[in-house]
Amino acid sequence: MESPMKQGCLRAFAMLLTCVASSALAADPSHGEAVVKRWCAGCHLVEPGQRSSTEAPPFSAIAKRPDFDASKVAFFLLEPHPKMPNMQLTRTEAADIAAYIATLK
Ligand code: HEC
Repeated sequence: MESPMKQGCLRAFAMLLTCVASSALAADPSHGEAVVKRWCAGCHLVEPGQRSSTEAPPFSAIAKRPDFDASKVAFFLLEPHPKMPNMQLTRTEAADIAAYIATLK
């Protein structure tokens, strides 16, 4: 278990990193992939061969849409979505996930 104090410090550090990262670095698709496998694979098809039992669109289908736009996906992920649990993603996570989905085109 981590102490609340340590968590608060980590959170502040993560926010600082977000500021630095969003101005200097591109999003990290490999981190997005890790997040997606943990949080989204229960409903969305993430990898080929995986079975999906819900109506959630596979990420590769989202990436192939003609109007696909990584920044729109990132924005969508930060909004609560009726059929998806409110996952409280950080802006960095949302950007990394959108960057990962963009690689599936
Ligand atoms: C509990 C099941 C569930 C989980 C978990 C889930 N989703 Fe979804 N998601 C859905 C369903 C169902 C839809 C389509 C229905 C709709 O559009 O309302 C959807 C739609 C989407 C869309 C497409 C929106 C559009 O433009 O059509 C995106 C992008 C998306 N999800 C991303 C994610 C990501 C990223 C995660 C993990 C961080 C995630 N979802 C986790 C069920 C889920």
